[in-house]
Amino acid sequence: KKLLLIDVDCGTDDALAIMMAIASPNVEILGITCVGGNTQLDNVCKNVLRVLKLCDRLDIPVFRGASTAVLGQNINASYFHGEDGLGDVPDENAPGLELIQKEHAVDAMKRFASEYPGQISLVATGPLTNLALTVRMDPTFPQKLYSLYIMGGNMESRGNTTACGEFNFLADPEAAYIVLNDYLCTTYIVTWEYSCRHKLSWEWYDKWVNKGTKKTDFIKKIYAHSLQYSRSEKESKALVDGPGFVSCDSYAMAAAIDESTVTKFIECAVTVELSGKFTRGMMVMDLIDDLKKKNKAFVISGCDMEKFIALMEISAK
Ligand code: BDR
Repeated sequence: KKLLLIDVDCGTDDALAIMMAIASPNVEILGITCVGGNTQLDNVCKNVLRVLKLCDRLDIPVFRGASTAVLGQNINASYFHGEDGLGDVPDENAPGLELIQKEHAVDAMKRFASEYPGQISLVATGPLTNLALTVRMDPTFPQKLYSLYIMGGNMESRGNTTACGEFNFLADPEAAYIVLNDYLCTTYIVTWEYSCRHKLSWEWYDKWVNKGTKKTDFIKKIYAHSLQYSRSEKESKALVDGPGFVSCDSYAMAAAIDESTVTKFIECAVTVELSGKFTRGMMVMDLIDDLKKKNKAFVISGCDMEKFIALMEISAK
């Protein structure tokens, strides 16, 4: 079985990504680490527990990580995911925070990597703060991973939060810089534009969420808030290639679960703009080897949609 560590800022699409991993028989989840991002850290922890409860997998350990970016700033995406990150649908039976492990996320990541050297695929679907702190505490951490899958950044300088800023990288550009420059391991990146270019049709979405299972009912509820926005005009401007359902984090998870969902990629060095007045947080792809960086990333550019849809469908069964 593939061993996964999942680092999330659990909003709606992170929830779908976790559900996908849980539903995949060839995967074992060692733990889920939480980071502030789409919503504040306590909500992230609660949301992960809610998803695990829904899937009867409260045995998976959940760890608290960083609540703010490395420089202390905080942005969130409540306009999209809701104040609580999961569409503001009250859940009186949500598990309590006492279920969160005492060990810090960063310590847990270091420990797992030492226990399973060369075997872990790390999937990061939020700001990269926990990952940046981990490599600073243990510079050998990335070499102990099998591979890293990141949802974040952009490949055509198009943003969804600012003109050139994709949310996860913009939320902590310094952390993204550290990860893209100091993680000397096989790294796959799912960008904003890639996610948009492989979006699912609203027809598919409507059929999917109306299947009447416990999981599809949950998805339908938590997405009601963001769908008002997704179908609105501002979002259609940010969306690349027209309307539809975009679940960014699911693409990174799908790639980690089944590498054959990735049909094309661009291999190049990548970094992040930190000081641009208009471009802070923008991912930079060095296609002419100007930076002379040894480590290259695989920026994913093609997806086997049949396989991806099959994974989405098993997630909600
Ligand atoms: C990313 O930002 C978040 O709002 C989503 O969960 C996703 O990880 C898309 O830019």
